[in-house]
Amino acid sequence: MKATPAACPDVLMTGPYPDWDVGPLAEQYTLHRLWEADDRQKFVAERADAIRAIATRGELGASGELIAALPKLEIISCYGVGIDAIDLAAARARGIRVTNTPDVLTGDVADIAIGLALALMRRIPQADAYVRSGAWAIRSMDLATRLYGKRVGVVGFGRIGATVARRLSGFDAEIGYFDLAQRADSPHRFFADLVELASWCDLLIVTLAGGAGTVGMVGAHVLQALGPQGFLVNVSRGTTVDEPALIDALQRKRIAGAALDVFCNEPNIDARFMALDNVLLQPHHASGTIETRRAMGQLVRDNLQAHFSGQPLPTPVV
Ligand code: 8YV
Repeated sequence: MKATPAACPDVLMTGPYPDWDVGPLAEQYTLHRLWEADDRQKFVAERADAIRAIATRGELGASGELIAALPKLEIISCYGVGIDAIDLAAARARGIRVTNTPDVLTGDVADIAIGLALALMRRIPQADAYVRSGAWAIRSMDLATRLYGKRVGVVGFGRIGATVARRLSGFDAEIGYFDLAQRADSPHRFFADLVELASWCDLLIVTLAGGAGTVGMVGAHVLQALGPQGFLVNVSRGTTVDEPALIDALQRKRIAGAALDVFCNEPNIDARFMALDNVLLQPHHASGTIETRRAMGQLVRDNLQAHFSGQPLPTPVV
């Protein structure tokens, strides 16, 4: 395929964006919609000499294979803060710039962590089902577990973890956190050992960044330490939790329950989750508000615009 004029650079989109982003993008760029192609390899090969940018999403990223297939690639703009699905080494090796959308989604992800914790411990989905089924007229609903005043362990204390902790102060929670190092700016108790944090707390909230360094970090030992009265919330990446170990712990009631926004094989998640009544499932939607998604889309466009007009990138990763 022939390259389009420099004024209208070719952008490969790995997945759909909302209409409010596609409209403005289409005015400035020639868009190529990879997810609509029957043969993706052929689709990429036919456009390889034209494509100068990838617009991707956190969970879709850009593989080393895709990057290698695009010799004219200059920038990867990611709609999401997590860049674990982008082959950063491959991008770096070719001087390809990478941007993400930090900060604008922090509040929403923290909100959903609290929402999931409340829904899980107070059994809000079960309460809804109980009312709808007519069971209310027949028997009392089972009692739930309180969130306020509990010990909460935050796993990963970056922007999202710190905001979760701030939200939790309104719940009179006692907060501990695990990270690579103690944060000088945090008054909360630091745990250098994740197993120790899990055995100390009633609720573990995982906000780790994804990637090779955190794969399976919440493993069988951590879940065992959390124990049969302990709850788990994951709003990070499915990879940070050892999923088979989690399913086993839930099946055997070795932990009290889990609320998960993220999974290892999205959207085709492990079918065993569906059979469990002590897990609350949410479709990787922590940043899924109109306000945040508009801001994320704007940042994706701002980064592309800055790159193609020779301005400093607003939110560079590489
Ligand atoms: C989005 C995300 O769900 O920020 C991230 O890393 O995974 C999420 O905010 C995703 O990028 C939207 O497709």
